[in-house]
Amino acid sequence: MAEITLKDVRKSYGTVEAIKGVSLDIDDGEFVVLVGPSGCGKSTLLRMIAGLEGITGGDILIGGRQVNDVEPAERDIAMVFQNYALYPHMTVRQNLAYGLKNRKTPSAEIDRRIAAAAKTLEIEPYLDRKPRQLSGGQRQRVAMGRAIVRQPAAFLFDEPLSNLDAKLRGQMRIEIKRLQRSLGTTSVYVTHDQMEAMTLADRLVVVSAGRIEQVGTPLELYEKPATTFVATFIGSPSMNLLHGRDASAGWSLAPDVARPNGDFTLGVRPEDLSPTLANGPAPAFEATVRVDGIELVGAESLLHGRLENGSELIFRVSGRARNAIGDALRVGASADALHMFDANGHRYG
Ligand SMILES: Nc1ncnc2c1ncn2[C@@H]1O[C@H](COP(=O)(O)OP(=O)(O)O)[C@@H](O)[C@H]1O
Ligand SMILES: [Mg+2]
Repeated sequence: MAEITLKDVRKSYGTVEAIKGVSLDIDDGEFVVLVGPSGCGKSTLLRMIAGLEGITGGDILIGGRQVNDVEPAERDIAMVFQNYALYPHMTVRQNLAYGLKNRKTPSAEIDRRIAAAAKTLEIEPYLDRKPRQLSGGQRQRVAMGRAIVRQPAAFLFDEPLSNLDAKLRGQMRIEIKRLQRSLGTTSVYVTHDQMEAMTLADRLVVVSAGRIEQVGTPLELYEKPATTFVATFIGSPSMNLLHGRDASAGWSLAPDVARPNGDFTLGVRPEDLSPTLANGPAPAFEATVRVDGIELVGAESLLHGRLENGSELIFRVSGRARNAIGDALRVGASADALHMFDANGHRYG
């Protein structure tokens, strides 16, 4: 097992800088998720840790050893991909044994590790099948089994669940987390899915355009997003953002709410807004909206409101919404639910 350190890591493809100086410390045994939109550089970062991609600048350390120029096979890491990368002509057992045989592991030890991994992953009944005789979920388990039997210092996952349907993805997510807990192996997991990231990560690293936006626990990022990018990327539905210069257009802030001088962006999550009581105290934030969309999403409804200036405000109400399209409503949020950002999109206060 090992800690992984990135120090000002950079990557250019020709004149294009895809990774613009990333520094990160991953603890031994930690489960870190790199999350960000497609094209932000997640796979490039992971491939550089794996050694499948050279680095243009900076340093990468695994277990305290600088590995900048160390071959992938010598880095003691195992990678799990989206497309499984199983050998189609080999049985599951042979797929699991392949990497170990190459490393001249004694055959009794290979058998022992395969038996243990197959038990953990519940793939014992399929050991003599070929990959094409397996479902997507079973193939993904085999791909994970191949990583486990190596007993590497770290696992690297690149969107391993993207090819699975939503239900299976949810199940596999829980299995991966359980597996990582029980093995205690340092893991770096890449996904564009913020929900997957939130449920898996000990710590999340939000990446945007080749840079780290913020690092923190899922709760820290949810409660205190450092930028408007993180604010809208983490949480579903996204945090509502309103521009301060529009403060007159259908919404108001109590005078004692701290705000930057000049332009600002106010953020408020849909789950923190609720209809205001006609005779109750005025909340710190209040808006008048016209309902122009209603979504029933199980135990709650999402209401899409339209402010006077045309911007949208989404809010949640529990159960089935009693409102109708076209209703005018006042909604509000308390001061501790408000997120304030300066003109550059950085958290204020
Ligand atoms: N081999 C390559 N040659 C040129 N550009 C590349 C190459 N690989 C990735 N890129 C570029 O680097 C950026 C990051 O890509 P990638 O790491 O695959 O993003 P992600 O995994 O977050 O979707 C993208 O703009 C992509 O086009
Ligand atoms: Mg990718």
